[in-house]
Amino acid sequence: MAIVLRTLRHHHRYLTFLLSSTIVLFCFHFQNSVVIFTYNSYFRYVSEPAPCACATCALDRGRADGFSARYEPTVHLLLNSSNSELRADVFGWWKGLQNVTSVANYTSVVKNLFPLFSDKEHYSDAGPDRCRTCAVVGNSGNLLRSHYGPLIDSNDFVVRINKGPTGGFEKDVGSRTTHRIMYPESSVDVDNSTHLVLSPFKMLDIEWLISAFTTKNITKTYMNVSSTIQANKDKVMILHPEFMKYVYVNWTDSHGRYPSTGFLTLMFALHICDEVNVFGFGATKAGQWHHYFDETLTLYVNESHAGDFEYQTILRLEQEKRIVMFKGWT
Ligand SMILES: *[C@@H]1O[C@H](CO)[C@@H](O)[C@H](O)[C@H]1NC(C)=O
Ligand SMILES: *[C@@H]1O[C@H](CO)[C@@H](O)[C@H](O)[C@H]1NC(C)=O
Ligand SMILES: *[C@@H]1O[C@H](CO)[C@@H](O)[C@H](O)[C@H]1NC(C)=O
Ligand SMILES: *[C@@H]1O[C@H](CO)[C@@H](O)[C@H](O)[C@H]1NC(C)=O
Ligand SMILES: *[C@@H]1O[C@H](CO)[C@@H](O)[C@H](O)[C@H]1NC(C)=O
Ligand SMILES: *[C@@H]1O[C@H](CO)[C@@H](O)[C@H](O)[C@H]1NC(C)=O
Ligand SMILES: *[C@@H]1O[C@H](CO)[C@@H](O)[C@H](O)[C@H]1NC(C)=O
Ligand SMILES: *[C@@H]1O[C@H](CO)[C@@H](O)[C@H](O)[C@H]1NC(C)=O
Repeated sequence: MAIVLRTLRHHHRYLTFLLSSTIVLFCFHFQNSVVIFTYNSYFRYVSEPAPCACATCALDRGRADGFSARYEPTVHLLLNSSNSELRADVFGWWKGLQNVTSVANYTSVVKNLFPLFSDKEHYSDAGPDRCRTCAVVGNSGNLLRSHYGPLIDSNDFVVRINKGPTGGFEKDVGSRTTHRIMYPESSVDVDNSTHLVLSPFKMLDIEWLISAFTTKNITKTYMNVSSTIQANKDKVMILHPEFMKYVYVNWTDSHGRYPSTGFLTLMFALHICDEVNVFGFGATKAGQWHHYFDETLTLYVNESHAGDFEYQTILRLEQEKRIVMFKGWT
């Protein structure tokens, strides 16, 4: 059971605390702050303003759990013309992911990125007056017959992953896509209003992105890939390798070789949104790991990205009320 305590704040904002009844004995309102006593005489004096304008903020620093120790608000999230130089440890880790023996010169490759793409968006507008909601839509079969479509579409940002389609599945997965995270081997065309967000697991992925909008002469990585892509060039974004390493170290405790695209996407949302609603992650009720759009079983434990550890982390974020999980009914 949880006690919900609501305190009216300026701008008609509500600060909502969900307090476990096992630890809380008394709460009272005191000069626009809340003093909480618990039976082990531990108490917290919450006087910081709410970090966002939503009913509950993912980043609420007032909650005592491991989140704040791991969360790095100033990490470089997206590559741009002024932050593309990599720290030595980041470059070392990222270079280690490359499957090939000869890797292009990073500096010369990245030099070509921002004449070509825009780097205006920084998402650095977080603050007490912003309430931005995100739906992160994974590709799990548990979306089937969920009727989550309208709920997903009602978020400010709808972030989708790899090939997960909307056509034919709108009732369950929604129809809006503001961001789609992909890499060359998982790429699909997106419409003009969608941000194509590249997750560059390797140098060739950045070279491919450039090629796909220019020469179209990269047709193969470790497999055949599409040489071109339909997307709004002005909305292209590239995850920063520093962000990828940070997710790997801070959030998957360096399990596997690198984080999965789904997990990176969820952490991306936690860095650009105030409220994160997560759909289509995890197994179906019957315990099956497959996509909602095909019958391919997704192996999840023994992959290069430690899916099991990632999933435990996601469940912990849910328990800590940093995200809200929608697990479907089937
Ligand atoms: C690049 O991104 C950083 C944050 O990673 C930001 O502080 C900086 O202003 C951005 N620079 C440009 C030129 O967009
Ligand atoms: C390396 O290649 C294998 C297939 O040969 C692929 O499964 C894996 O994802 C690749 N790693 C990266 C970082 O691209
Ligand atoms: C990469 O290219 C830059 C110039 O674009 C050059 O200064 C640098 O020495 C090159 N690095 C290597 C390892 O070749
Ligand atoms: C896509 O959006 C850009 C502006 O971001 C605009 O210049 C272009 O004409 C649009 N293309 C289509 C096909 O709507
Ligand atoms: C693609 O074209 C560019 C520019 O013409 C060239 O520098 C590059 O080597 C080509 N790459 C491949 C894989 O053919
Ligand atoms: C990859 O593309 C080449 C050239 O287009 C083609 O000959 C080959 O069969 C393709 N391989 C696969 C696995 O589709
Ligand atoms: C999280 O990342 C920051 C820097 O990116 C680092 O200083 C900190 O030690 C990390 N925390 C954990 C728990 O790994
Ligand atoms: C998964 O990996 C573990 C240890 O890394 C191994 O014991 C187990 O047999 C593997 N399972 C499958 C299905 O490959």
